Amino acid sequence: MMRALVTGGCGFIGSALVRHLVRDWHAQVVNLDALTYAATLGSVQSVADEANYRFEQGDVCDRALLKRIFADHRPTCVFHLAAESHVDRSIEDPLLFVRTNVLGTATLLEAALDYYGSLKDKADRATFRLVHVSTDEVFGSLGEGGAFNEETPYDPSSPYSASKAGADHLARAWHRTFGLPVIVTNCSNNYGPFQFPEKLIPLMILRARQGETLPVYGAGENVRDWLYVEDHARALALIAEAGQPGETYCISGQAETPRTSGASCAGSRRSPSTRVCGQPSPGISKTATGGYRSPRGAKRCGAPA
Ligand SMILES: NC(=O)c1ccc[n+]([C@@H]2O[C@H](COP(=O)([O-])OP(=O)(O)OC[C@H]3O[C@@H](n4cnc5c(N)ncnc54)[C@H](O)[C@@H]3O)[C@@H](O)[C@H]2O)c1
Repeated sequence: MMRALVTGGCGFIGSALVRHLVRDWHAQVVNLDALTYAATLGSVQSVADEANYRFEQGDVCDRALLKRIFADHRPTCVFHLAAESHVDRSIEDPLLFVRTNVLGTATLLEAALDYYGSLKDKADRATFRLVHVSTDEVFGSLGEGGAFNEETPYDPSSPYSASKAGADHLARAWHRTFGLPVIVTNCSNNYGPFQFPEKLIPLMILRARQGETLPVYGAGENVRDWLYVEDHARALALIAEAGQPGETYCISGQAETPRTSGASCAGSRRSPSTRVCGQPSPGISKTATGGYRSPRGAKRCGAPA
């Protein structure tokens, strides 16, 4: 049975993953979260009383706490999502992003390596995985056409994306240098339930509902892909189960759209999921399991669970 340590499990994506692992995988899940402004306890309320769910409040930079959590819960896999995640905040307070995203990742990798090294059973060592969840913003801006893939060179432009790029490099280094079974994922913009309203889609919807202006970056021509958060959660669980250590997987909704489309969608009071429904199924661009291109139980993009 999977025993999962999820960091940042009270955040937007982490909570979708926690709900999915607890309910659909019947995994033993421990959620480590510092409960910053971005956390929403209500997002895990539906599983909070389940016997296979535990919550630990704490900081991913706290090495002693991590050591205790690894010893107590003995995870078979780790999903690392704890992060500072808002670009605008990274411009206001870049060092906080370096601390959480870079130092936090390094601290987790060290604690995981200690634990991995302590595993005596060959089978336990063979199945252990650490899935480091990152963003496609490490690749920079998307041009007129095409999509990012695992070969795209890194070109981060904000303190947020630079701190995530640094964390990705550390994660790969702990695999190549120390043999820790790390997998890196780079996903596109997520949307769905429990997203903090500073992010584009909930912000646009809230402002549109109040009849306010809809802010766009620059000319609003930046092309972004949109991924339904529960599809993302399914992809992460699949990758932990069947992905190859040392590999990178890009996860997308295959719905590249200029930002102004999202704004006009919110402005016309259509749901953002309506905007992307009918696109091809969400995809993991590299095959995780020999020919498997879509997350488990593949649905059309953004289809409700
Ligand atoms: N939201 C997106 O569209 C998106 C897209 C690509 C990648 N990502 C990545 O996915 C991950 C999750 O993103 P999200 O949108 O759910 O973020 P989020 O901001 O909604 O949640 C982050 C969570 O991490 C917790 N956290 C912050 N600092 C912590 C610390 N020091 N120790 C422990 N917990 C801490 C917060 O309390 C919060 O619950 C991040 O690594 C982010 O970079 C997000």
